[in-house]
Amino acid sequence: MTRVFSGIKPTGHLTLGNYLGAMRQWATVDQHRSEALFCIVDLHALTVDHDPARVRRLSRQAATLLLASGLDPDLCTVFVQSHVDEHARLSYLLECVATDGEMRRMIQYKEKAAREQRRGGSVRLSLLTYPVLMAADILAYGTDEVPVGNDQTQHVELARDLAVRFNQRYGHTFVVPRAMNPAVAARVMNLQDPGSKMGKSDDSGPGIVYLLDEPDTVRKKVMRAVTDSGSEVVYDRESRPGLANLLEILAACTGGDPEQLADAYDGYGALKRDTADAVIEVLRPLRERHQELCADPGHVEGVLREGAARARGIARPTVDAAYRAIGLLPAESEDGAVALNAAR
Ligand code: AMP
Ligand code: TRP
Repeated sequence: MTRVFSGIKPTGHLTLGNYLGAMRQWATVDQHRSEALFCIVDLHALTVDHDPARVRRLSRQAATLLLASGLDPDLCTVFVQSHVDEHARLSYLLECVATDGEMRRMIQYKEKAAREQRRGGSVRLSLLTYPVLMAADILAYGTDEVPVGNDQTQHVELARDLAVRFNQRYGHTFVVPRAMNPAVAARVMNLQDPGSKMGKSDDSGPGIVYLLDEPDTVRKKVMRAVTDSGSEVVYDRESRPGLANLLEILAACTGGDPEQLADAYDGYGALKRDTADAVIEVLRPLRERHQELCADPGHVEGVLREGAARARGIARPTVDAAYRAIGLLPAESEDGAVALNAAR
């Protein structure tokens, strides 16, 4: 069966972008058709300035929201990255395969490092090596497919390159993964700034719909979305990005097509009203289920504990094989005897 792996960072409250660009496909498609693992990648949240208590809180909340969005622990594995040592173990080996130049070419690194420097802050080394850890997340599980929004395609390409290079140098060890982007709303943009993605780590609240926003708040945010000059409703990402974003969100929520939807509207007002309604309806069951799960935190903890155990069982043999292939001496042989003794 196809193995699917994806991850979500606990760096902020999850947004409509996370849901339409990733989580919804995980719940409605991926967990049913493949052997799927979904990971709260908390180690990745430490690559930028962070508050320890907040990362803990957001990790728990992300786990709860993943289950609320429909991930079923009987169908897939939901777990926290730092609970499985194999990610960090493999990341180091892959750092020995990746190059400095390769890392510095990553668009997300360039953007985030520039932003950090503009603020006068320092750039953590882990921000540079982040894509290697992400490659380790993917490769440790023999992943075939990585469903992500298209902002992550470059990182998945890197994981492919590292897998191929490792296999060529040290013998076949890793499955070469590929990225899978959802067809509609692969990139949900900020409602106040349609030139940039609706990202959970951003500060601009009014342009971001959070999954746990009250319906009234969602409505206000959508009604206040910036649109472009001109009053005709046409779907054109280049010249009318604000409008295109609304049409794509509406299409993603209702199963329609942005171009056809554009033909159905004469003005912005009705389009915004319908988009707000559609988003509220999509989020309603998720909010309700989230509330139920919050009343039973032991359940979520249990799911994460079992998920980590299952994940470890899958990652361990692959990462051990990589350690042997790259030239490291095994600590113990298969039956637990010290390898050195066995070799004598
Ligand atoms: P992140 O929020 O960066 O941890 O991303 C988690 C997943 O959500 C990744 O697959 C991203 O590609 C996806 N994602 C995040 N923000 C958006 C967005 N605005 N539009 C579409 N997908 C997104
Ligand atoms: N870097 C991804 C993001 O910002 C999150 C992530 C970390 C991930 N590891 C992963 C996604 C492995 C897919 C597979 O969205």
